This record gives sequence, C-alpha cells and structure tokens, in this order.
Amino acid sequence: MSNGGDSSDTLPLRVVIRHANDNDLQQIVRLSEKLGRDESTADSMVSPTPSEFQNPGWIMKNIRGENTVVFVAELDGKIIGYSLGWVSQPWSYKGKRGYICDCFVDEPYRRRGIGRKLVEAMLSWFKSRGVDCVEADVYSNNAPSLAMFKSLGFNEISKRLRLTIR
Ligand SMILES: CC(C)(COP(=O)(O)OP(=O)(O)OC[C@H]1O[C@@H](n2cnc3c(N)ncnc32)[C@H](O)[C@@H]1OP(=O)(O)O)[C@@H](O)C(=O)NCCC(=O)NCCS
Repeated sequence: MSNGGDSSDTLPLRVVIRHANDNDLQQIVRLSEKLGRDESTADSMVSPTPSEFQNPGWIMKNIRGENTVVFVAELDGKIIGYSLGWVSQPWSYKGKRGYICDCFVDEPYRRRGIGRKLVEAMLSWFKSRGVDCVEADVYSNNAPSLAMFKSLGFNEISKRLRLTIR
C-alpha cells in the first residue's frame, strides 16, 4: 500500500481497497452513521444523534489530512466499508502511535475478509509513517471486532471502567 497514492488490492467479490477521495464522502458519512447507531445501541452513554464523528467536514479533514487516513472498500462503484485513523504522539507516549478510530463493513458484506483488509491497509500506511505502535478502542462485548484485531496481532492493554450514576 503506498503512502497517499491510489494503490489497491483485489479481494474475492471484486472488492477493491483504496484510499478514499472527496467523491466518496457521502457514502462514508452514511456508513459512519450506521457505526454511530451501532455504538449508541451497544452503549447507553452514546447519543443516537450524529456526533462530530459523523460530521462530513470532520470526515473530509481526515480524507485530506497529512497525518490522517481513510481507506474504503469498493464493490462495483459502491462503498461497502471504510476505515479511518491518524498518526499522533499522545502526551505521555515516547513514540508515534497510529490510531484506528473507525473500521466498519456494511452488514451484508461481513465475514468475507474485508474488515481485515481495511485494517491491513491502515497498518501498511502507519508503518510507512514510522509509527511505533497501532491502537484501537473496542467495546468489551464487541466479539467480532475483538476477534478481528486479535487475529491481526493486537493485544489488550487496558480496560475502561464505568460507574453508571443514572
Ligand atoms: C468488526 C468488523 C469491521 C469486521 O469486518 P468483517 O469484514 O466482517 O471481518 P473479516 O471478515 O475481515 O474477519 C476478520 C476476522 O475477524 C474475526 N471475526 C469477524 N467477524 C466475526 C464474528 N462475527 N464472530 C467471530 N469472529 C469474527 C474472525 O477472526 C475473522 O477471521 P476469519 O474469518 O478468518 O475467522 C465488522 O463486523 C463491523 O463492521 N462491525 C461493526 C463496526 C465495528 O464494531 N467496528 C469496530 C470498532 S470501530
């Protein structure tokens, strides 16, 4: 996977993984809204109202940014999945971290290796950016996502605790 280019990788089902461009924005927003709804169903603290994570302006910034990246999975001209992340150095870290914020595959297309390819594309891009590690936040009850990241070599490093007051 090249850095910022349009290299692609063909999967079964004629799915192509490639860097997102401005023309993909509306379809990515639609998928990110589905991801937001999933999260709101899974987590009582997450609002069902679209947030900044679904804001077209914010997603466009990630498509165009120097240290941000968005990959899409395209099937016959339709975007059926995407991944979005960035490189940064969190305050206490001694090196650069790649962060995978979103990885989503539309439901009818799951379990065909597309999520794995979207993450692998991110990993190649992060490596080309000289990161020291790659992280993602995954809900404890999200078995498919945990299994996917673990199968790619990710290890659990922390647990977030929550006390619900009301
Ligand atoms: C997580 C998600 C991206 C996986 O996408 P996918 O295309 O179905 O995943 P893949 O087919 O590439 O599967 C890769 C591996 O993940 C694991 N996996 C995926 N779905 C699974 C499931 N339902 N049950 C158990 N393991 C699963 C398997 O280890 C699988 O490898 P295998 O098929 O060789 O056994 C998809 O389920 C999704 O979009 N979920 C909703 C959004 C989400 O939770 N995103 C993660 C946080 S941002």
